[in-house]
Amino acid sequence: MADTDRIAAAAELLASAERIACLTGAGVSAESGVATFRDAQTGLWSRLDPRQLASQEGFAAEPGLVWRWYMARLEQVTETAPNPGHVALAEIEKRADVFSLITQNVDDLHERGGSRAVIHLHGTIARFRCNVCLRPHQLEPDERTADEPPICRHCGGNVRPAVVWFGEMLPEDALRRAWDAAAACDVMLVVGTSGVVYPAARLPDMARQNGARIIDVNPDPSPISRYADLYLRGASGEVLPQVAAALNTTRSES
Ligand code: OAD
Repeated sequence: MADTDRIAAAAELLASAERIACLTGAGVSAESGVATFRDAQTGLWSRLDPRQLASQEGFAAEPGLVWRWYMARLEQVTETAPNPGHVALAEIEKRADVFSLITQNVDDLHERGGSRAVIHLHGTIARFRCNVCLRPHQLEPDERTADEPPICRHCGGNVRPAVVWFGEMLPEDALRRAWDAAAACDVMLVVGTSGVVYPAARLPDMARQNGARIIDVNPDPSPISRYADLYLRGASGEVLPQVAAALNTTRSES
């Protein structure tokens, strides 16, 4: 199928769906300048050790290193802007009857791109909590630039970003809502994920087993691309605006 035919076919699937779920990964933010994790040259985990920066063991060993790394990432995310892929997803949402956006990303670029109800499976980098008593922590401006993590005002434990680290449970409510959306959707749109981190990677397969059609957008094929009904090869900032435009045409014709 030619590329334009695939775009049109994706728009048809989305137009005929009553319930759409969308699962995004780091790739959707790549064109905003936020590094992915597993891309060979540019991915964070190709040059940094996730056990050191994204695990309880790493935080216990070097809390200052972990804190400074997350504060640098937070600053980077704050300075970036949503790209056309984020904006196109918000447009697709506006035209859908029911649309659930499930993201593995800890940035807020979907919200800033206009998406409404975003389910953050892996937490958010701009929120903080105590690593010991779990109470939320309101960050003071000078704590952002500190060399060590702030100390919890309640129990004296180290404060950390409210993101999910390796080996940790996902936020229960977010996981339940993601599961429900995947189980109930007619179409799942998967964007910019390598599909290797569980349980997120299980969502498209679960949707498929419940009869949903799967559309995957990624410049490089992933395990999800291989079973997707439609694989749209390309960068989400280029492909998704075309899908949104084709969806507009499909809707106005019907
Ligand atoms: P990965 O870094 O594993 O995968 C990024 C995917 O985006 C790859 O399949 C790329 O081919 C694709 N990609 C790159 N540029 C793109 C573009 N412009 N448009 C569309 N796709 C593009 O990121 P995730 O799958 O999100 O976990 O990784 C999952 C989890 O692993 C992350 O949430 C994080 C990480 O460890 C936690 O922080 C808990």
